Amino acid sequence: MVEQLFERTFGRSPEARAYAPGRIEFIGNHTDYNGGCALGAAVDRGITVAIATRSDGECHFVSESMTGEVVAALDNVTPLANPFAWVNYPLGVIHVMRQEGLPVERGMDLAVASSLPAGAGMSSSAAFELATAYGLAALNGFDVDRKKMVQVCRRAENEFVGMPCGILDQGTSAFGAPDHLVHVDCLTETFTRVPMPTSCHLWIFNSNKKHSLVDSKYSERHRECSEAFETLRRAEPKAACLAHVSPSTVRAQQRELGEVRFKRALHITEENVRVKEAVEALTNGRLKVLGALLTASHQSSRTLFENSCAELDYLVERLTDLPGVYGARLTGGGFGGAVMAL
Ligand code: GLA
Repeated sequence: MVEQLFERTFGRSPEARAYAPGRIEFIGNHTDYNGGCALGAAVDRGITVAIATRSDGECHFVSESMTGEVVAALDNVTPLANPFAWVNYPLGVIHVMRQEGLPVERGMDLAVASSLPAGAGMSSSAAFELATAYGLAALNGFDVDRKKMVQVCRRAENEFVGMPCGILDQGTSAFGAPDHLVHVDCLTETFTRVPMPTSCHLWIFNSNKKHSLVDSKYSERHRECSEAFETLRRAEPKAACLAHVSPSTVRAQQRELGEVRFKRALHITEENVRVKEAVEALTNGRLKVLGALLTASHQSSRTLFENSCAELDYLVERLTDLPGVYGARLTGGGFGGAVMAL
């Protein structure tokens, strides 16, 4: 219990408590930072923070799953290295909120507890950022709309943590609702709820192969996509982003792109089309079509985006062989983490 951790550590009661859920990426793999669309689902597990102000300008952090207390000065917030790097998520939020002129003027004690598996690709980091942001708003008595919260938390992750993620995780956590998926248009930053058919369930399987996004190939994929778009925008000048380029243009530019950038761009542009088709299938209740899109998404991640691994492929293969499974795919950044099945 986060309150008990707080009381045990700081010897007093918290003044505010806030919660944000983790998420499953339903479909739309790496489309978000390429300006495309994605569908996510908030889950019934997440991150809870308990928080209270301090008068000495210090920020103290304690976590149920880490040993020791980490201290930072509010007026000199800089990213910390391991083993303290977990504190960069709330520190980043504090930093960006202050840059935005939001009144975080006093230090704080913060305790955090999680019911999400760490490193499984269920966005414990986005949930930690959002729970911190909600907690700071409650503590300091300001009201910020949800979209702004999402933007602040994404900036914390991009600019402070140093992970060039898109807006899917924060958007899904903030706009998720029971029995609904969240459709995220990442170019316009528009979040819309799409009802989930009641005759099926989402399952999540942790491969237990840890993925570490900042250290992993995520940044490399991000760069390859930007480079591919540099080439493709000359062929399709009206496209505002890589996800909006048509797959036929990508095929026509294969030679100019070179093998690796061609594969990355084909994945992004076709995946964006799959997201649109998935919304149609959901709206029409066509679960078989939907399942086939999910499995096609995984195959594209495996062969074109090359962000799967043997453990994830094994799970997808076993799952799609089972009766009652419509489709399965890796969920989130890849290179480890989890598989979801419908
Ligand atoms: C991670 C990132 C997201 C998104 C997914 C891949 O979860 O945090 O922004 O890019 O990977 O779709």
